[in-house]
Amino acid sequence: MKIFLDSANLGQIRKYHDIGLVDGVTTNPTLLSKEGGDPQEIMGEIVRLVHGPVSLEVISTEYEGMMQEGRNLSRFGKNVVVKIPMTADGLKAVRQLKNEEIKTNVTLIFSPNQALLAAKAGASFVSPFIGRLDDIGEIGMDVIRDTVEIFRNYKYEAEVLVASVRHPLHVIDAAKLGAHIVTLPPDVLGKMITHPLTDIGLARFLEDWKKLKQTNPKIALTT
Ligand code: G3P
Repeated sequence: MKIFLDSANLGQIRKYHDIGLVDGVTTNPTLLSKEGGDPQEIMGEIVRLVHGPVSLEVISTEYEGMMQEGRNLSRFGKNVVVKIPMTADGLKAVRQLKNEEIKTNVTLIFSPNQALLAAKAGASFVSPFIGRLDDIGEIGMDVIRDTVEIFRNYKYEAEVLVASVRHPLHVIDAAKLGAHIVTLPPDVLGKMITHPLTDIGLARFLEDWKKLKQTNPKIALTT
C-alpha cells in the first residue's frame, strides 16, 4: 500500500520524506490556507521535494477555469496531479486533461457511483473522504470496499486513494480491503510508528545494558 501525506506543511513533509515514508502528497485549499504564506511557493517546494505524485487542487468550479488552472498547475513539475472536484464540469475537465496527458485526482467523493464515474472519465486517482462520512453517521469504509471491488471488476486504471483519514484503524481497514493508497495527516502517520510497548521495551534494553557495563567493566562493549 502506498502512503501519501495529506499536508501542505513543508516541515512535516520533509520529516517523513527523510525517513522514506512519503510515496506522494495531497494538498487542498484548506491545508494551504493553514500554512499561510504564498501557496504558489509552497506548492512549488513540495513538488520539488517529493518525487512521487503531488496533488494540487483547482479553485475554479466551471470547466474552462478548471482547464486553465489544471494546465498551469501541471507546469510545477512532472509529478503534479491536478485535483478536480467531483462535479459534472469536473468530470469533463478530467477527460480533457487526460487527453492532454495531465493526471488527475478526483476529490470530494462520497459514493461508489461517484468513484465509478471518475474512473470512467479517466482519473488516475479517486479520493473517497471516509472520515467525513463517519462524521455524519455513515460508514466511510463501505465506499472503499465497494469502490475497490468495482475497479477490480472492470480493471480500471484509477487508484483508490483513501482520504479524510482520522486514525490508524482507518489505515488497517483500508489496507485489508486492498485500497491502493492512503493519504495521511502527519499525526496519523506518527501514531502508526509508535507503540507504548516499543518505548517500554527499548527503555528496558538500555537499562539492562547499563547494568551489564557496570557489573562487567572489563568486558569490551561497543557502547
Ligand atoms: O485531502 C483532503 C481530505 O483528506 C480531507 O480530510 O479531515 O478535512 O475531512 P478532512
